[in-house]
Amino acid sequence: MKRFIILLMSILVAKTATAQTPNYAENIAPIIYNNCTNCHRQGEVGPMAFTNYDEVKSWGRMVKFVTETRYMPPWSPDPKYRHFVGERTLTDSQIKQIADWVDGGMPRGDASKEPKLPTFPTGSQVGTPDLVLNMSDTYKLAGKGKDDYKVFVLPSNLTQDKILRAVEFRPGNNKVVHHVRLAYETKGAARTKDAQTPEMGFDGFGGFNVQVDGSFDTWTPGKNVLQFPENIGHKLPANADILIQVHYAPTSAPATDRSSVNLFFKETTNLRPVKSFGMIHFHLSGGPASFQIPANTVKKFYAKRVTQQDMSVMSIYPHAHLLCKNWEAYATTPAGDTIRLIKINDWNHKWQGDYTLPKMIKIPSGSTVHAYATYDNTTNNPLNPSSPPQLVSLGESTLEEMYVFGFTYLDSQAGDENISLVSNAVVSPNTVLSNTGLPFEHDSRLYPVYPNPMNRDFSVGFYLDKPMKVNLSVYDLSGRLVKTFLDESQSAGDHIVPFHLDDQWTEGTYIFRLLGDNLNMTQKIMITK
Ligand code: HEC
Repeated sequence: MKRFIILLMSILVAKTATAQTPNYAENIAPIIYNNCTNCHRQGEVGPMAFTNYDEVKSWGRMVKFVTETRYMPPWSPDPKYRHFVGERTLTDSQIKQIADWVDGGMPRGDASKEPKLPTFPTGSQVGTPDLVLNMSDTYKLAGKGKDDYKVFVLPSNLTQDKILRAVEFRPGNNKVVHHVRLAYETKGAARTKDAQTPEMGFDGFGGFNVQVDGSFDTWTPGKNVLQFPENIGHKLPANADILIQVHYAPTSAPATDRSSVNLFFKETTNLRPVKSFGMIHFHLSGGPASFQIPANTVKKFYAKRVTQQDMSVMSIYPHAHLLCKNWEAYATTPAGDTIRLIKINDWNHKWQGDYTLPKMIKIPSGSTVHAYATYDNTTNNPLNPSSPPQLVSLGESTLEEMYVFGFTYLDSQAGDENISLVSNAVVSPNTVLSNTGLPFEHDSRLYPVYPNPMNRDFSVGFYLDKPMKVNLSVYDLSGRLVKTFLDESQSAGDHIVPFHLDDQWTEGTYIFRLLGDNLNMTQKIMITK
């Protein structure tokens, strides 16, 4: 009997020991191969390979650290707040298993039980493209170990408008292409900028450095290309240039890249265009000029905007630079409900993207969208590009910041919330602020008239790069002047002018025009009852 108890005890002890120290073959390899190896293998962007026991073991303590801190796998949105397509997260128990394995001496276990490496997809995820656009030449990276941000122009040469079913970025060199933003432009501004220097492309850290007409889903390694289901799509105008803003990861050896973009078209007679709802510094509670982050401060910004129609939201894209720490955005409906949109607890500029909802969510007309972002301009922020910290204001460069919160949506229809964006796998081209594009530039400009369509009250914002006399007038569609609202000298900087229209204004579409020194910007406005 005594012997039996001892035997039983030793079995129990042995059992607890195995339960406590996970082994590579059965416990750790499945976690690593399914969550890390996609990027961490030969020729991919991860800086080391995790394809077998020895490789993982040699980085063991680091693997424990980056998983415990949730730095890896890279995924910014808080999954407890909202789930998105292609979510990359480890469960608490997976993180603990890795930690226990490392602390327990990293046993291999029975090697014959190790899973095979998954087969990773090669080639297009969507199929045979209707049009392939290549970078015009090979881009050479100096290999000086620095991040490099470049904008390249890919002319479509399309002779007619097309409807896009999918846009697929294909990295030429997976080892160095870290993330890519895609947009299109029809006025030739990017071509002109590109032609200013003999090298292909031009610098662009925070964006495209030219005003774009619309943008598409951001590409990050391992991201699924989604296809717009049904008659949903994005119109690409004839002759549009596709712009790619490529973030090249630091490399110590010289490297080259020649990436491409696959376009997939579709035919539909009743297109439901993907639209975009945006909030920028113009919508901040303190006004656009409040977007300043003094040295040695942590500052939280808040903006809100009321929706003017029922929207079916498809994807969400916050954008900021290096100082940003976190985001939270939600909508409150007229009925008093709160709709969570996104929460990012640890913003990382390197892993920005836009996040597609598995199914569309409806935001009813008259809801208020709230978006908060915090920026840390102190020495506590390891990503602060300035040492000592400097006053930071709006701009596209590494030393400046942005506040952009946007989402793509459809004009709502019954049943939208049942359309899956997962199975159809495509992505959300985002038309950004369709009227004017995002006003990234530091030139004088007219901000989007808000609200638009409008009832009787609205405001107009504009930014002047120097003091000048400006004229703000409204014309009808035949070009006849209806009313001049403002015709006087204004100081440099941001201005917001509130307007009230009297009852003599009839419903309809008008043209709003801002005239000044080298400044002639128009925008369509719609007056409703
Ligand atoms: C989507 C691609 C991707 C996935 C998935 C991914 N990594 Fe990474 N990993 C990277 C990139 C890129 C870097 C380089 C640092 C950066 O860009 O943030 C990196 C860096 C690292 C580093 C070095 C940390 C440092 O300070 O440079 C470790 C360790 C690491 N990853 C482990 C993991 C583990 C473990 C997993 C899975 C649990 C994982 N990674 C999943 C892309 C990825």
